[in-house]
Amino acid sequence: MRKILVTGALGQIGSELIVRLRDIYGSDNIIASNRRIKDGHEELIKSGPFEIVNINDIIQMAEVIDRYKVNTIINLAAILSAVGEKDPMACWDINMNGLYNVLELGRKKNLQIFNPSSIAAFGPSTPPDKTPQDTIQRPTTMYGVTKVAGELLCDYYYQKFGVDTRGVRFPGLISYETLPGGGTTDYAVHIYYDALKKGKYTSFIAKGTFMDMMYMPDAIDSIINLMEADPSRLIHRNAFNISSMSFDPEELAASIRKHIPDFQLDYDVDPVRQKIADSWPNSLDDRAAREEWGWNPKYNLDLMTEDMLEKLKIKLDIKD
Ligand code: SER
Repeated sequence: MRKILVTGALGQIGSELIVRLRDIYGSDNIIASNRRIKDGHEELIKSGPFEIVNINDIIQMAEVIDRYKVNTIINLAAILSAVGEKDPMACWDINMNGLYNVLELGRKKNLQIFNPSSIAAFGPSTPPDKTPQDTIQRPTTMYGVTKVAGELLCDYYYQKFGVDTRGVRFPGLISYETLPGGGTTDYAVHIYYDALKKGKYTSFIAKGTFMDMMYMPDAIDSIINLMEADPSRLIHRNAFNISSMSFDPEELAASIRKHIPDFQLDYDVDPVRQKIADSWPNSLDDRAAREEWGWNPKYNLDLMTEDMLEKLKIKLDIKD
């Protein structure tokens, strides 16, 4: 029986993953944790075990793991790319020292571990189109540096100590439940809110900037399917390219206009986030994930747009 501790559970991924995991494995077997309580998550906090956990505090982590007899950690506590450029030291501290604690606990207590990587693990010298699974990784952001180092550290713990570490390289994630916390791909979430509320959006990412993106239900499936995959099939581990769509702001706007014909898009490009976006691939080759554990996303751009607008309308109480 799985007993899963999810760190960063009140973040963009965690808040939806917890609900799915509790459906599959039972509420009592999923321990949601976050370094602080955040408004708007009262229902999730009440829906099963919840603990305040700081991944930089290994003693506190160990106590929670022992108390609940945890055998799996899904480590979602992290600082994203744009915030990471504002405070690189904090980004290193949480993303690396926190991961080190998670892996050490994995080694000592024989835990299975999921640690997400990102398209940010690539850099300007990486082949940008259909980026191969195994290729040059020289990122130019602190977030990217922590993601590459994290991939290597997770592989090291697997090879040296036999810790069952697994991960995927997430693209920009789009969801309606919880906003992302300071990434470069966040424009692709904000655009839907503004399309419904104002009928227009000013993008901080320039026209023609293509990045890989994914709708949250597919991202959640990737975590669950990879963690359940037969280990004998895994040639790669940390971390798999996964991909479902790649678009620029213009293509996203065109998809929104199929539902809101007058939607207007203009630009006020943020040089910091644009530079980050320009250093990342346009689209990833995800054949290894498809072959080794059956990765098969369900949503393309138009299916995602339809669902996002429908769900956000309800959330924002917008009438036609
Ligand atoms: N969505 C993330 C970011 O923009 C990429 O992993 O930072």
